[in-house]
Amino acid sequence: MAGLRVQTLIFVLVAALAILDRTAVEANFDKNFIVTWGKNHIGTTNGNLRLVLDKSAGSAIRSKVAHLFGTVEMLIKLVPGNSAGTVAAYYVVRGWNSNQSFRNYENEGIAYPNKQGMKVFASLWSADDWATQGGRVKTNWTQAPFVAEGRRYKARTCLWQGPVSIKQCADPTIRSNWWTSPSFSQLTRTQLDRMQKIRSGFMIYDYCKDTNRFKGVMPPECSKRQF
Ligand SMILES: *[C@@H]1O[C@H](CO)[C@@H](O)[C@H](O)[C@H]1NC(C)=O
Ligand SMILES: *[C@@H]1O[C@H](CO)[C@@H](O)[C@H](O)[C@H]1NC(C)=O
Repeated sequence: MAGLRVQTLIFVLVAALAILDRTAVEANFDKNFIVTWGKNHIGTTNGNLRLVLDKSAGSAIRSKVAHLFGTVEMLIKLVPGNSAGTVAAYYVVRGWNSNQSFRNYENEGIAYPNKQGMKVFASLWSADDWATQGGRVKTNWTQAPFVAEGRRYKARTCLWQGPVSIKQCADPTIRSNWWTSPSFSQLTRTQLDRMQKIRSGFMIYDYCKDTNRFKGVMPPECSKRQF
């Protein structure tokens, strides 16, 4: 991630969602992902993912299947050394709108991703027009190729099988729907503290603070508690 000195970030994205738990899919990237950009800049070694960025191209993959509720995890090794201007990304998205609001304000008209399947994306690219200090620090291409790695992708989710999944995945009477347990409806005190520490120590971009991008009219969820 841009300008970040910490080289390895263990990122567990708990996308509070999912259906019939197809038991843990301890995944193999070749089997679960397709390359969406930079075919010759992507490789796997022993099932571990290697994303490469050089001046000619970056690289990106996305999951073959879409998920509704559950967890998708992956260990990520960010680009070591001077990686200013590069962005290693990992996220779950529906359509093309990257969106990670964790709290559900659906009843206030703020969209919450519980009615559409989401695919998992990972990518490495250059965004030196904005990434590091608002674009002032450029990617130093003499340091290329930049390499980020992914390991132990694991999805424990409700697979999205079309609109039928909306009800099925949310049904608390289906035993495999572990995410419907009340303990997953809110972070515990300890988890909140941990989240706060991670945000203050490692978060370098917050779309809710990006007033340039939204021309001052911030998305409605930004004025709410986010987790
Ligand atoms: C780019 O990296 C090279 C090699 O490490 C270094 O000599 C050079 O000063 C760097 N350029 C900038 C603009 O930082
Ligand atoms: C999140 O999605 C909602 C609905 O699609 C949209 O109104 C909001 O602006 C999105 N936020 C971001 C940062 O894209």
